[in-house]
Amino acid sequence: MEFVSDNLNVNEKGNLTIGGTDTVELAAKYGTPLYVMDEQTVRTNCRRFNDSIKKFYGDMGRVHYASKALSCMEMCRIVGSEGLGLDAVSIGELYTAVKAGFDPAKIGFHGNNKTNEELSYAVEIGVGHIIVDNISELHRLEKIAEEQGKKPHIMFRIKPGIDAHTHDFVKTGQIDSKFGFALETGEAFEAVKEAVACKNVELYGVHCHIGSQIFDIAPFEEAAKVMLTFIAKIKNELDYEIKGLNLGGGFGIKYLNEHDPQPFEVFMERVAKVVAEQCGALNISRPFIYIEPGRSIAAPAGITLYTVGARKEIPNIRTYISIDGSMADSPRYILYGSEYEAVVANKANEERTERVTIAGKCCESGDLIGENMPLQHAEAGDIIAVCATGAYNYSMSSNYNRLQKPAVVFVNNGESRIAVKRETLDDIIRNDV
Ligand code: LLP
Repeated sequence: MEFVSDNLNVNEKGNLTIGGTDTVELAAKYGTPLYVMDEQTVRTNCRRFNDSIKKFYGDMGRVHYASKALSCMEMCRIVGSEGLGLDAVSIGELYTAVKAGFDPAKIGFHGNNKTNEELSYAVEIGVGHIIVDNISELHRLEKIAEEQGKKPHIMFRIKPGIDAHTHDFVKTGQIDSKFGFALETGEAFEAVKEAVACKNVELYGVHCHIGSQIFDIAPFEEAAKVMLTFIAKIKNELDYEIKGLNLGGGFGIKYLNEHDPQPFEVFMERVAKVVAEQCGALNISRPFIYIEPGRSIAAPAGITLYTVGARKEIPNIRTYISIDGSMADSPRYILYGSEYEAVVANKANEERTERVTIAGKCCESGDLIGENMPLQHAEAGDIIAVCATGAYNYSMSSNYNRLQKPAVVFVNNGESRIAVKRETLDDIIRNDV
């Protein structure tokens, strides 16, 4: 049996394993629904990014894990121990990282509408750079920095005008986007002029992120060219050197067997080549490069385990397999129609002979994990594993229908440990008065 992630296998009992750990035993030990993360896969993915940026761009690059994909203290500790920096987008993600002992100097702070509280906190803890999204933020940050007697490094978030081929909700590089300064209209250049004159912030770099789950490398090459041309314009017209270029994240991963993402090494080789050529042609120094992968580090490392509660066959229409989770822990199908591979974990040796709809337990019909999914014959009591769920599932989970958020467990060489506890009923009413 082949699975989408190479950390998945079948043991002698016919049970699905992740990172060598029996998933049926995990379900019995911790209960379901359960998020399971394989530590070694997270580490391997971090190293793959680190190694290729070193190989193709030398010591002039750094990988920042986009923590929105999966933010919890244990994940911060693991990526931090691999030497990565972090991308955080809210005071909550910053706080999680700080409490996990993450070095703030290696954090880039994002967001299209950071509050003053968030900006003050970021300046106070000394994040490596704040990625400023709009001019009002620049003004507010100037004031906050002055009050604190600090001079934070900033980058400007730029819309490079690139339209990547991905879902509309996760496209961000085009001019019609809520993120960043537009190049075409001159807005970005005007902002740079203003920032160069600012006393309390230091304009260090420019940033772009063109979207997420992108398979094609060409839009990244295009974005790098556009950004370097902008850096050259700033040098030529303002005599100001932009030292950092952040190219964002968005590298596609394999959710289904037919997905065929390029290895990251190929991405880095091609982008590094474009950067070197462009810098030569434009007569500018090579900038320090940052990339911000989230999904490609976390997603393949994770699965979600559920218990089947009911099987409902509607003749000539479809078969529903109802599980103990829902859109509250797995929101990507109802949000984007995202497809996943599923396996009956306790029958992982058997062929997937059926096509079923896996349904959640929330009170609405759209609450599905997927439709027309190939699956082994599943009945009440079976354990279902949904694969490659390590990114944007726990991090986007909710308490809809007052459901308790599942636990997050990390496995490593057959051992397992809790990273985030399952919510209790008292957690559900914790803030009620
Ligand atoms: N950098 C910035 C500025 C971003 O906005 C994002 C993602 C990333 C990096 C990381 O992108 P990644 O490597 O993970 O694709 N909830 C959606 C994805 C939203 C992505 C938002 N920004 C999903 O579940 O598909």
